[in-house]
Amino acid sequence: LQLLAAIAVLAYVIGSIPFGLLLTQLGGAGDIRTIGSGNIGATNVLRTGRRGLAAATLLFDGGKGAFAVLCGFILSPFHPAQAMAVAALFAVIGHCFPIWLKFKGGKGVATGLGAALALSPLTGLACCAIWLGVAKLTRISSAGALAAFVAMPVLLAALGGEGLRAPAPMAGLLIALLVIARHHGNIRRLLNGTEPRIGRKAP
Ligand code: G3P
Repeated sequence: LQLLAAIAVLAYVIGSIPFGLLLTQLGGAGDIRTIGSGNIGATNVLRTGRRGLAAATLLFDGGKGAFAVLCGFILSPFHPAQAMAVAALFAVIGHCFPIWLKFKGGKGVATGLGAALALSPLTGLACCAIWLGVAKLTRISSAGALAAFVAMPVLLAALGGEGLRAPAPMAGLLIALLVIARHHGNIRRLLNGTEPRIGRKAP
């Protein structure tokens, strides 16, 4: 249990590195929290008009999710499934509530997708495909994210063969609930038709 707690703390710290904020500041694009939706994620970085910075944010935020899961796997050779699931969940919690930003973080999409890829590559790929597919169809990033995270626990349960009670689907369910909760503003805008479409630069 102590090892799991240590893995949770490590994953939280890894997840809480705000790459969107760091990269936009390093790239001279200003403080991302004052632009567009104010979110620190890749979708909002894209609103600065800096595609490269947005792609890097997506890659690094996704990478930290995958890296945290990998740490869980390495540090707990006897119960890797539990450790990886705990690491996935706490990496997303770290991204959403980073200690460095007074717990005001992002929405967990890229980090959750990266963690899912490391937990179950097939599920991760399927969720990325759903995310990209729905976002392409609707031109709305949050719509793609919501669809992908609704599917995530179901896919983890179905592909893992142990149902929803296994560690990975459990983590997937908690991650999905957190990501959906973090999108409450987006959901409100989706419902009243005011959610911005991808590609529109922030004023
Ligand atoms: O990655 C977060 C995305 O789903 C929504 O971002 O900036 O449109 O609120 P944003």
